[in-house]
Amino acid sequence: MLNIVLFGPPGAGKGTQAAKLIDKYNLVHLSTGDIFRANIKGETELGKLAKSYIDKGELVPDEVTIRMLESEVNKTPQAKGYIFDGFPRTTPQAKALDEFLNSKGTTISVMLALDVEEKELIRRLLGRGKDSGRADDQDENIIANRIKVYHDQTAIVADYYAEQGKYQEIKGVGGIEAVFDHLCEAIEQHS
Ligand code: C5P
Ligand code: MG
Repeated sequence: MLNIVLFGPPGAGKGTQAAKLIDKYNLVHLSTGDIFRANIKGETELGKLAKSYIDKGELVPDEVTIRMLESEVNKTPQAKGYIFDGFPRTTPQAKALDEFLNSKGTTISVMLALDVEEKELIRRLLGRGKDSGRADDQDENIIANRIKVYHDQTAIVADYYAEQGKYQEIKGVGGIEAVFDHLCEAIEQHS
């Protein structure tokens, strides 16, 4: 299996690149943010809970997110591999993912971390907020908190994969196709 953690701060281009990668490598895209938003739209209990965190740019508690992610993986037993987008966002999430994948006889192949400077992230998020309807992309305070949470809680997850020799940084600017080419090169090296 080819299991990729697509990593990077909000606005780094994870969703955009994941959409292209799943076509090329025939993978399943699991975006925890998208799943939360679908639950909010469907007015589920999970959606109500997630909304209370997303509206502030905070993280949904680990146990909730991990349970949801595992149940999504279990829905696609025939998958050739996964792109995890927006997950794991904490070290406990990364450890839980390892244990879960190990129990299925598989593992993470590589973490690809998109590197984009902060000014550009804010520019992209505000741009996306204009037509995505995402409230968390329209408010500069929420954006600032999401970036802070990334630095405080998420950035360290890179170390977890680096210790396993699975971390690779990718330049996240220069155009969608150029970034895609860099990602594909890195994948070919790790598969
Ligand atoms: O990944 P994305 O930017 O779509 O996530 C949007 C929001 O969903 C995050 O700001 C956070 O509130 C929530 N989220 C989370 N835990 C994750 C992924 C997303 O709490 N693993
Ligand atoms: Mg996204």
